[in-house]
Amino acid sequence: MHVLEKLSSAEAISLEEKFGAHNYHPLPVVLSRGEGVYVWDVEGKKYYDFLSAYSAVNQGHCHPKIINALIEQAQKLTLTSRAFYNDKLGVYEKFITDYFGFDKVLPMNTGAEAVETALKICRKWAYEKKGIAENFAQIIVCDGNFHGRTTTIISFSNDANARKNFGPYTEGFIQIPYDDVEALEKVLETSKNIAGFLVEPIQGEAGVYVPSEEFLAKAKALCEKHNVLFIADEVQTGIARTGSLLAVCGNCTCENKCEKQASYITPDILILGKAVSGGVYPVSAVLANDEIMNVIKPGQHGSTFGGNPLAAAVAMAALEVVNDEKLAQNARRLGKIFREKIGAYIQNSTIATLVRGKGLLNAIVINDTEDSDTAWNICMKLAENGLLAKPTHGNIIRFAPPLVMNETQLNECISIIINTLKEFEN
Ligand SMILES: Cc1ncc(COP(=O)(O)O)c(C=O)c1O
Repeated sequence: MHVLEKLSSAEAISLEEKFGAHNYHPLPVVLSRGEGVYVWDVEGKKYYDFLSAYSAVNQGHCHPKIINALIEQAQKLTLTSRAFYNDKLGVYEKFITDYFGFDKVLPMNTGAEAVETALKICRKWAYEKKGIAENFAQIIVCDGNFHGRTTTIISFSNDANARKNFGPYTEGFIQIPYDDVEALEKVLETSKNIAGFLVEPIQGEAGVYVPSEEFLAKAKALCEKHNVLFIADEVQTGIARTGSLLAVCGNCTCENKCEKQASYITPDILILGKAVSGGVYPVSAVLANDEIMNVIKPGQHGSTFGGNPLAAAVAMAALEVVNDEKLAQNARRLGKIFREKIGAYIQNSTIATLVRGKGLLNAIVINDTEDSDTAWNICMKLAENGLLAKPTHGNIIRFAPPLVMNETQLNECISIIINTLKEFEN
């Protein structure tokens, strides 16, 4: 078969089955085109995308401004490695540090790499600035966390499937329950060797768990009191997804950066990925101020592709789109409508028990056991009815459409979701 031959869904799936590692369990839908909030499969069926590649495609599929930046830069220079300077990286570094209000950025490619980068920076800071004895630094993490799939990251995951038979694990992590300020305080008060606290402002992968209103601000204050770095993993929640530029910014109404509000906190280290590029190219970033970032010296961290000119051009365009199109405000407004309407339906539902989330990162909890396949079956039916979503953990379905959605489209999607749930009511 010629590689460019048009495939049917069945053929494409069987190729992946036979020649690809089985490290994912996709819905049996084979996509070949995307535009804005829509994707099309190889047979031409149109769907609403309600996953946005796990919140990477916040700016919508194939956004023309981002694609133009990609094409223009691809025709000039794609990769130099960091052995040399290039004429895009510095411009991007200034742009993104201004955009998020930090002194410096360390550019990487994927979310997991950015998390690894943050952990390394945190440990080095602990030894060189805080004065923790070498090899004794501990980083606090939360139960139910999802920060990626590398060896160190799975070492502090409590997802048994992600860990089993991948040991021995990396040491130096202490787990506490999510959204538990007292547990955090207890650890901070009993150990002198705490370097950092790594946290997702909303636990997306775990099932869109939104912590209590004060959790992040209180946790940040405790970290400050104990000279511990507060590390926010906004790989999934960042870039307007939850109704503000960052989830740690709370509910600001600004156009560019978030105003300081009661719930606003500035992390010591900010981790971004996914929608930094609008899902067009793998771009991730770790941001921090000089006092922290300057612990990293030549040869101590890097990536051949990190900070390449193509990534820089794409990321600048993608971040401009977020401001140009007021995506945070749109996510906040549409998210409220989504939760109100789905919530009203759920009041009399036997199949769904709860809708929760912030902005356009939401989930519904299906009324069945965690190991049941009801959520999966509902997602299959949703696909049949023209909307793509995926269960996160067991009986929870995450809903995260591109943020360029308009209200008419959202209402159509709400009807599809409600009509699909109706098919499962008893
Ligand atoms: C909060 C969080 N951190 C890190 C990652 C890992 O990102 P990547 O898959 O790009 O390595 C993810 C991916 O879903 C995530 O949700």
